[in-house]
Amino acid sequence: MIGLTRLEKRFGDHVVLNDITLEMAEGSVTALIGPSGGGKSTLLRCINLLEIPTTGQVRIGDDALDFHPGQRVGWASIQRLRRQTGMVFQSFQLFPHRTALGNVMESLVTVLRWPQERARQRAMELLDKVGLAHKADAWPATLSGGQQQRVAIARALAPSPRVLLCDEPTSALDPELSGEVVDVLARLAQEGTTMVMATHDLRLASRIAQEVVFLDAGTVVEKAPATRIFSTPERERTRRFIASLTHRETESGNGAL
Ligand SMILES: Nc1ncnc2c1ncn2[C@@H]1O[C@H](COP(=O)(O)OP(=O)(O)OP(=O)(O)O)[C@@H](O)[C@H]1O
Ligand SMILES: [Mg+2]
Repeated sequence: MIGLTRLEKRFGDHVVLNDITLEMAEGSVTALIGPSGGGKSTLLRCINLLEIPTTGQVRIGDDALDFHPGQRVGWASIQRLRRQTGMVFQSFQLFPHRTALGNVMESLVTVLRWPQERARQRAMELLDKVGLAHKADAWPATLSGGQQQRVAIARALAPSPRVLLCDEPTSALDPELSGEVVDVLARLAQEGTTMVMATHDLRLASRIAQEVVFLDAGTVVEKAPATRIFSTPERERTRRFIASLTHRETESGNGAL
């Protein structure tokens, strides 16, 4: 399970996450939705400790870390927690000087010190899982955005993280390429991969997530099952936000939910 307890993140005087308490079950997919600047990326970055929370607790499985203002947490503890996470970014961020296979193998060889052959085998299995075994030797620059993102997903999964964190995994892609990434994420979800995903794509959220968290101005306004929050949100703010997104999608020709 992933647990956030009374989490707060400030940048100077600016409170970006305010008293967030959330639990995400093992094997579940949680979508984070909400207006730009609401704190979705910061929340993901606090789970893998790319941002250090100001106060509160982050728990992944049996590992928990408490944060207090002015108190530094040791690097080893941060690394231990971070290694239980894999992150997928909007902009893919593949290593340009490594092939697709090299990208997926990288952390296994350099961080986990696996022998080359074992790492290669695991990386090939993962490339196969995302439908890209035939592109193992390709350079990132020669791959489409959707293919690059699928390599990035394979890379994030390589060390078998407990949770896959995805920050807008499809928003840099046009609808066709985004579809192939959504298919991969949907399959991972079906297989029981625990995921937390920030997204503006309500169709992605409604197709994959069991739980949806609506985050606005650093506060959890509403958390509810995906089946309910899109049809009958409890809070007026949630309703207005979902209505605005659905309207925008319909206008841009992407169709409604
Ligand atoms: N390193 C930083 N230093 C100062 N302020 C920051 C930093 N990172 C984020 N913020 C601020 O925190 C707030 C939340 O940003 P965040 O990127 O988490 O929002 P978001 O919900 O992911 O938005 P978007 O939908 O646009 O991606 C914003 O006001 C942002 O300016
Ligand atoms: Mg963001």
